[in-house]
Order: sequence, then C-alpha cells, then structure tokens
Amino acid sequence: MAFELPDLPYEYDALEPHIDEQTMRIHHTKHHQGYTNKLNAALKGHDFADLPIEDVLRRIGEVPEGIRQAVINNGGGYANHKLFWTVLSPNGGGAPSGDIADAINDEFGSFDDFKEEFSSAATGQFGSGWGWLSVDEGGGLKVHSTPNQNSPYMDGLTPILGVDVWEHAYYLNYQNERGTYVDNFWNIVNWDQVNEYFNDAS
Ligand SMILES: [Fe+2]
Repeated sequence: MAFELPDLPYEYDALEPHIDEQTMRIHHTKHHQGYTNKLNAALKGHDFADLPIEDVLRRIGEVPEGIRQAVINNGGGYANHKLFWTVLSPNGGGAPSGDIADAINDEFGSFDDFKEEFSSAATGQFGSGWGWLSVDEGGGLKVHSTPNQNSPYMDGLTPILGVDVWEHAYYLNYQNERGTYVDNFWNIVNWDQVNEYFNDAS
C-alpha cells in the first residue's frame, strides 16, 4: 500500500491574497508530492507502509535505523502538509469557538495571548520548520515549534494546528518577511476543523 497525495479541500487560488496561487500549486504538487514519493520509496516492502502515517511517526523508534531519517524527513513532511491544508480555509480566520476556544482561554489566558505565543514560536524557529498547537498526552494544549519536517507525533504530541515556516511556504509572496506571512495566516485558519481535531485528540 502506498501513501497518496491528498487533494486540497479548495482551489489553488482560494487562499489569496494571504497565500498566492503559485505558492499553493508548487507547494502541493512539487513539495508535498516529493515527500510522498520519497516516503513511499523509503518504506517500500516494509510493514510500516501499511500503517497510518501518524502511527509510523509515533513509533519512529521502531523504524529500522537505515531508513529512519528518511522516514523522519519525508514521513514528517507528508503528515505535516496533510494536516496543514486542512487547517486552512478561504472561509477561515477570526476567533475560535467551541471547546477549543475554552481550552485556549484556560491554557493561555486569552486568544490574543495564545496568538502571540504561537506566532512567536513560528517566527522564532531558526531555519526551516513548523509552528504548532498540539495536544499532549494529558489532554493539555502546548505551543511549540519543530525544525525541518520533524513531526510532533514523534514527541508523543498530537498536532491540531500548524503553520509551515519553510521559505517554500511564503517566499514568492512575502520574500524574507516570515512575520507578515504568519500575521496573515491568522486570516485563513479553519477553526471549526481545529476544534474537531481538538475533540478527537483530547
Ligand atoms: Fe511546506
């Protein structure tokens, strides 16, 4: 069984002006497709290829050493982007509602305080990586970042919101202005989906 590139749940130009069409098209058809192909090549003929990618990453310590780094890089890249597309929406933005809104207020004090902490984790990630809101094993919320394509699942966390801060995610439109890209990211966050992920994980 091979991992497949998921379709975007919207058109390539749907997130404009916050993320431009060309960036979305290259990001999905070249970058995400590339991680998918390399993940399949790394796990070819291996039992791990039959598991959901989230389980592969949770059990990364059991993946044979010879292919482990390839699975961290490409399995992480596959899973991170798979989540990323779904937490964005042309109808997104604004403030969350439902259980995730209550949990954010409890954990961070207010939505604005949470946004500040998340944005700072994302913009402060040195080099390529991701900013995350994850659920820990006790059901609590955690803001953090990971380098490269490292997945929160490898640390026992369940990501429910992520922002890709690799330059390939924003450079065409924002050049070196990662902070402006992250500011605009808030306009397209699909909070209904994040709420659903939160309820599944906690
Ligand atoms: Fe990316």
